[in-house]
Amino acid sequence: MKVLLLVVLTVWSNFGCGFSYSCSHSPSTWCSSLNSAIECGVLKQCLETNFTRSRQTEDPVHVALYYESLCPGCRNFLVGMLVPTWIMLQDIMDVSLVPFGNAVEKFDGKKYIFECQHGDEECLGNMIEACLMNMTEAAPEIIFCMESSPNVIKSAQACTSVYHPDLSFDSVMKCVKGDLGNQLMHQNAMKTKALNPPHQYVPWITINGVHTEDLQNKAMASLYTLVCSMYKGTKPEVCGGAQRHYRSYCRNE
Ligand SMILES: *[C@@H]1O[C@H](CO)[C@@H](O)[C@H](O)[C@H]1NC(C)=O
Ligand SMILES: *[C@@H]1O[C@H](CO)[C@@H](O)[C@H](O)[C@H]1NC(C)=O
Repeated sequence: MKVLLLVVLTVWSNFGCGFSYSCSHSPSTWCSSLNSAIECGVLKQCLETNFTRSRQTEDPVHVALYYESLCPGCRNFLVGMLVPTWIMLQDIMDVSLVPFGNAVEKFDGKKYIFECQHGDEECLGNMIEACLMNMTEAAPEIIFCMESSPNVIKSAQACTSVYHPDLSFDSVMKCVKGDLGNQLMHQNAMKTKALNPPHQYVPWITINGVHTEDLQNKAMASLYTLVCSMYKGTKPEVCGGAQRHYRSYCRNE
């Protein structure tokens, strides 16, 4: 999934002036084969991305976000900081999203019942996102799309159809209402309860599994700087090592 985000950006930057092309593959599969890369006009970008990844040998910096689908602070961080950083630093960073946060769960003898801080709508949003993460590689883009929309829940279907056109939203809702969704949310509850120190608020961030006030503050101020500084391998160009000058303009003729 991460490959495609970069490709999307690169394609925009390359074809920004007079953008027009079409291909029959969904963005998440553009780089999956030579044919799709050629058909979608992104061969150069896919080869470059594959090459860069093959050189990144150190463990990526692992960022985990414990959040709630309707918490404004969570949405701001996810949309304004986490995903943009992930797009730029995909080669040295991986991300886990754990929607649950301050929710509580009870077992009624058959299944888990969830109560969410921002009500049933939020439980629904959390559950849709948990199911998407189980069902599609395009989940991060879909969740970004939902969280940046005015209505997180109402946008879910449209966001899914943009980023994973072949995935029926009915099957997502089947997960949401069924045993799978219940199990997935229970797993998120367990992950959240296992946090040490326990979370006191959301968004709650761990870096390589560790939460400290210092890491949280740095991540909230500039996750980009933090991930670049924590990566142990050769820093990629986007971390500001080598200077590169861009000289491509669209002139007004
Ligand atoms: C990029 O790498 C993947 C995984 O190694 C491979 O399957 C794919 O064919 C490569 N894409 C291109 C365009 O070479
Ligand atoms: C989806 O969830 C099921 C049940 O927890 C799990 O066995 C499976 O590995 C998950 N699949 C993915 C892709 O996360």
